[in-house]
Amino acid sequence: MSTDYLEKQVSDLKDQHLFNNILTIESAIGPEIVINGKKVLNFCSNNYLGLANNPKLKAAAIAAIKKYGIGPAAVRTIAGTTSLHKKLEEKLARFKKAEAVITFQSGFSANLAVIPALVGEGDLIFSDELNHASIIDGCKLTKAEVIRYAHINPKDLEAKLNKASKKAKKLVITDGVFFDGR
Ligand SMILES: Cc1ncc(COP(=O)(O)O)c(C=O)c1O
Repeated sequence: MSTDYLEKQVSDLKDQHLFNNILTIESAIGPEIVINGKKVLNFCSNNYLGLANNPKLKAAAIAAIKKYGIGPAAVRTIAGTTSLHKKLEEKLARFKKAEAVITFQSGFSANLAVIPALVGEGDLIFSDELNHASIIDGCKLTKAEVIRYAHINPKDLEAKLNKASKKAKKLVITDGVFFDGR
């Protein structure tokens, strides 16, 4: 089979300046990182509290590697849940005053896992029109009908909720933090 269509997709992305060149970091993660041998400021990681390079956490990670190895060698649901995962989740649940916590490797995987667990066929999802791609994809994995409401607009949401079937199970979903540029 010809793969010309893939070449075309890549060249279209390049033409639209949408082609993602993934950067390679050659240093420890911090406010400054090295890319192509050059020190640059890093504004695009999630290392808000500087934990990626915290000496206490590094020492704990090294101790954990000595005891458990470099990874559980299976996904959590098969044979990859260690006592370390449980300890972390119990601590987080106490911190959040929640019944229980489950951790995921990324925000994307959390939304892909959690949304389809909450709703399914015959249910309704009300989703902010500017929700993150992971929420949009999580909604697509359900068989629920997705109704988009206007961005940060509770009046539009309310109108759409009022119009919806009273019987259907409903999930309203929005990002936790939105920048309202108005
Ligand atoms: C609001 C929101 N949800 C989900 C994600 C996805 O998180 P991750 O990059 O950990 O997959 C992001 C990432 O920036 C985000 O900003």
